[in-house]
Amino acid sequence: MPGMPAGAAKPGFTLRRLGAADAAAFRDLRLLGLRRHPEAFGAAFEEEAGRPLAWFAGRLEVHAVWGGWQTGAGPLAGVVGLQLNGVAKARHKGVLWGMLVRPEARGGGLATALAGALLEHARSHVEEVRLSVGASNPAAIRLYARLGFSAYGVEPRALKLGEAYCDEVLMALRF
Ligand SMILES: CC(C)(COP(=O)(O)OP(=O)(O)OC[C@H]1O[C@@H](n2cnc3c(N)ncnc32)[C@H](O)[C@@H]1OP(=O)(O)O)[C@@H](O)C(=O)NCCC(=O)NCCS
Repeated sequence: MPGMPAGAAKPGFTLRRLGAADAAAFRDLRLLGLRRHPEAFGAAFEEEAGRPLAWFAGRLEVHAVWGGWQTGAGPLAGVVGLQLNGVAKARHKGVLWGMLVRPEARGGGLATALAGALLEHARSHVEEVRLSVGASNPAAIRLYARLGFSAYGVEPRALKLGEAYCDEVLMALRF
């Protein structure tokens, strides 16, 4: 099946690390997410829509990004990334970013499986993983709490969309 990867199978999904060759599929899904959920991501659709494919390929080379496909057919259905810190005094922590599942693939455990793959990898590289999530995004906050993340603060007015501000909940999972 074209586009279907070989990789670790979870019930109903196939997961694997993405590489530069996945840049087009990653860009399509990422732009869909930025357009539909502007409050869920720090980046703006308008910023990333103008970037060349090579920029997305570069992101996949620099960051560890996992992708998930619904087993059997279909396009890239979900992604999540891990940013590791190059600064010596901050190397003990990583940042989970860009969690997104295609609307028609939600509710079946794909985000849980993607985060599970990321955490399994992160465990051998960092002491804790952090993330920020929109304060009015209960589905994502529940997901992270179920995975063992706990909130350690709130950043008021973390994002500004037009004239509206969005607070973000800061969460961490310590291994
Ligand atoms: C938040 C988001 C990533 C969740 O993705 P998802 O794949 O639907 O998440 P999961 O399926 O793993 O978990 C969602 C629900 O499905 C349930 N579920 C998990 N595994 C399941 C399975 N095997 N079968 C049925 N249901 C399952 C979970 O219990 C969970 O229920 P809850 O609503 O009580 O928490 C998705 O809604 C999304 O992309 N939202 C827009 C972007 C966004 O907000 N990203 C987060 C930025 S911080």
